[in-house]
Amino acid sequence: MQRLDRFLAEAGVESRRKIKDVIRSGRVCVNGTVVKVPEQKIDESSDEVTLDGNMIEGGKRRVVLMMHKPAGCVTAARDDRYPTVMQYLPAQYSKLMPIGRLDLETEGLLLFTNDGDLAHRLIMPKHQIEKTYYAEHVGTATQEDVEIFRNGCELRDGTKCLPAILQPLGEGKSLIRVREGKYHQVRRMMASRSMTVNYLKRIGEGELELGDLPLGMTRELTREEVGKLEAVKFDEKFFG
Ligand code: URA
Repeated sequence: MQRLDRFLAEAGVESRRKIKDVIRSGRVCVNGTVVKVPEQKIDESSDEVTLDGNMIEGGKRRVVLMMHKPAGCVTAARDDRYPTVMQYLPAQYSKLMPIGRLDLETEGLLLFTNDGDLAHRLIMPKHQIEKTYYAEHVGTATQEDVEIFRNGCELRDGTKCLPAILQPLGEGKSLIRVREGKYHQVRRMMASRSMTVNYLKRIGEGELELGDLPLGMTRELTREEVGKLEAVKFDEKFFG
């Protein structure tokens, strides 16, 4: 048994300071009944707790979430100049941390988790998982561009990139698959071949696909999807 306010604090629903007010304001139900007493004991293994109608799971459960990040927000917990991705996270997920980042103007698949080890493993350079981007850009990618990406292109500032896959989709459109996450990586790779990117969207990470998740929305990954993320290993054949 556990106090309701402690249970919600561990679940990362709100700052500890605010949780009592959240409960007193009648937003929390236990087994379908509004409970306004923060000290009320609940059985976390069997009681169903909701906040604003959303089910709250115990704080120790591992959560991995995908977001369809819109353009115009930065991947940071807070920022002085721009809105952040946090505004799109439902309240019960507000303590999750992003895995990696997408630029201010880039849309698409962004993962969040409360599992620091998983986040760390996925962004470690030697485990970097393959990320797939859809880009709209100036010009049309040629076979020469494809070869240069395959051999590891050089950015305009002389930085050498790891081999990557460039797949032209016709005039002004390409798919790009990379395994590293340098600052503005894809935009700079494309710019190095005079293909300024006007629109960029991450559509996949490893075997995970953004699919038809609407812009600005989030969903939890299934157990199978988390398993696939954990199984990611550097695949030498990728660039073969
Ligand atoms: N490459 C970019 O240029 N921007 C991103 O957000 C991700 C990859």
